[in-house]
Amino acid sequence: MRKLIIAGNWKMYKTIGETIELANALKRQLYDLGSETVDIVICPPFTSLSEAAEVVIESNIALGAQDMYWQEEGAFTGEVSAPMLKDAGVKYVIIGHSERRQFFSETNDSVNKKVKAALNHGLIPIMCVGESLKDREAGLTFKVLEDHVTGGLKDLGPEQVEKIIIAYEPVWAIGTGKTATPAQAQEAHKFIRDLVIKLYNKQTGELLRIQYGGSVKPENTKELMGQPDVDGALVGGASLKADSFSSIVKSSSEVKK
Ligand code: 13P
Repeated sequence: MRKLIIAGNWKMYKTIGETIELANALKRQLYDLGSETVDIVICPPFTSLSEAAEVVIESNIALGAQDMYWQEEGAFTGEVSAPMLKDAGVKYVIIGHSERRQFFSETNDSVNKKVKAALNHGLIPIMCVGESLKDREAGLTFKVLEDHVTGGLKDLGPEQVEKIIIAYEPVWAIGTGKTATPAQAQEAHKFIRDLVIKLYNKQTGELLRIQYGGSVKPENTKELMGQPDVDGALVGGASLKADSFSSIVKSSSEVKK
């Protein structure tokens, strides 16, 4: 059985004060949720990571970052490294989000370097993959997924891939209010898992957790999380309010598979 993992990607929202407020509210609302049911992660912007870490320390909420650079240190103005994230109390790191691919020239190659560097420093990468509306309409969904997955995982061994989380985020469902149907999500997740089984082996594919992301809300959580190959959610907009994120986490914890 794969444990569900619900992560909130706060994107470029929340000042330090707002982060502390939201993280405290989540801690209050989710404190009684046993850690055996669901993994909970929040990913605030870089500027509030260390304050967020202080709030969630020794709670059932773990901390994630939204990106990192693959070098450990050096003259790379504006970048943040894996050791810096670890030092700030981070456990997970989102890599290759479609917004980074779209607006900041992220490629499969840079994603692959970042995934490797994250693993080498003991961070758990949440590697994002997903097709655009144009790709889907052109019948290229599986081709794009294959390209993102094989490119992002290049040269990684099975024991490394088992530690990774893949987030399937169809670009057309991000921030649009348009969610993939549970059947569409299941179809894409199954394709990704089967591909990983083909590239590695059955055990690696079955251990791999695959999150769905794209307009996840309290109202659609149960049905999406109930799909056999959907192992969690990467939540954008609905993670910015304590009530909606808590409700997504609680609904997920009630899903029986
Ligand atoms: P929304 O939940 O706002 O659609 O964003 C999804 C996302 O991009 C999470 O990484």
